[in-house]
Amino acid sequence: MDVMRIEGGNPLSGSISVSGAKNAALPIFAATLLTEETCVLENVPNLSDIRFMAQILEYLGAEVEQTDPTTWKITAANISHRAPYNLVRKMRASVCLMGPLAGRLKKAEISLPGGCIIGPRPIDMHLKGFAGLGMDVNIDRGYVFLDAIKASGNLIFLGGRHGSTVTGTANVLMASVLTPGKTVIECAACEPEVVDLCNMLVSMGANIEGIGSPTLTIQGVERLGGCTYRILPDRIEAGTFLIAGALAGKDLTVTDLRVSDMTALIDKLKETGVPLQINSENSITVSKSGKPLKPVDVVTHPHPGFATDIQAQMCSLMAITPGISIITEKIFPNRFMHVPELQRMGADIAIEGPNAIVKGQPKLSGAPVMASDLRASAALILAGLVAEGVTWVLRIYHLDRGYDKIDTKLRAVGAVIDRLPEKDMPKDLNPEAA
Ligand code: EPU
Repeated sequence: MDVMRIEGGNPLSGSISVSGAKNAALPIFAATLLTEETCVLENVPNLSDIRFMAQILEYLGAEVEQTDPTTWKITAANISHRAPYNLVRKMRASVCLMGPLAGRLKKAEISLPGGCIIGPRPIDMHLKGFAGLGMDVNIDRGYVFLDAIKASGNLIFLGGRHGSTVTGTANVLMASVLTPGKTVIECAACEPEVVDLCNMLVSMGANIEGIGSPTLTIQGVERLGGCTYRILPDRIEAGTFLIAGALAGKDLTVTDLRVSDMTALIDKLKETGVPLQINSENSITVSKSGKPLKPVDVVTHPHPGFATDIQAQMCSLMAITPGISIITEKIFPNRFMHVPELQRMGADIAIEGPNAIVKGQPKLSGAPVMASDLRASAALILAGLVAEGVTWVLRIYHLDRGYDKIDTKLRAVGAVIDRLPEKDMPKDLNPEAA
């Protein structure tokens, strides 16, 4: 296993580019199961989650080929309908295989993925959506069994306690494009990744109206064809780099993003006083302010609100912003695993229910810290960029799930960050050393 070693205090300048979006690519990979024809997917990020998804598609019988570092060619001519626990448990996003398999094969057997560190991740709304389409839905021995022989279009409501559901919307949508009749999904997720999936499905011949709105109207078609589709930029990776720029930037230009997908974060960064220049729809230059930033309150919401996936990274910024900021997590109310690790670096953060009360400190200091999930890992890397001394981030396999070569990209703009085998970490600093 590798660890990340970061020497804090080095300015970031130059240009850093954003890869394709993980959370768009994963359901889009699953959507290739909807056709026996070839789909070519471009701008695919180089991530372990993508490789897991490719493995599952291969297990199901698809021919999967990575033709260059960012392009994948997938042909799902003959596929089976069963994805077992040993594959599905590696990645929650494999739940979004249910919709395409039920749509195309009229049946699916997918293992339930199991626990998740960021809190309970039920799929009741996915199953409610499938049942609403007239599928027979059963859970038995840890598997979801779907029988879609009698499925037909219907009105499906996908609103829940925390808003809509992103992969739930993707799942019901992917099932409905090949389900006879008209399906209306009300309270559909409006995240850019759902829009990207809709656009990909339309390019395969699906009939979808209301794309980007909370009401998706789908007229089922008999078959879909292949496509060549380019995945949208990763707004969370882009946001992570913008916050890196706010912490340590000296004219750091983040390129290949989509400004229109990131309004809530840009607004908050401006409110705190981060010098941020929008150069075009695809490029933003950001610097560390010469003056102290102002504390801000942040509440996570479904899109276009402030994304939960950038909440941990914002905590790192607020940890060294003078004054008190309150960060409220409304999507996954327990998603604060980064907090105890930031505290080890000197952050003053108290958790009260779904709120993190952050008292900004003059500085953070480097320490060995443990990554617990993908976005918590990113928050620790960001903190390490400004902490005094050396920060060691352990368990970085979480990071590799969702950030494409983050160490290489940050190093190219001036960060002193290295990926090392864990054995090269001083033993007295490694909490996991025997
Ligand atoms: N929920 C239910 N029932 C359901 C589905 C969801 O109660 O059937 C609840 C969840 O527990 C949560 C809320 O609804 O409180 C929203 O969950 P959602 O289903 O939208 O999340 P997801 O689709 O499982 C995706 C991303 C997450 C991201 C969330 C929210 C993918 C593969 N994952 O998860 O990304 O945090 O949407 O935007 O798209 C990440 O990238 O680090 C990550 C966790």
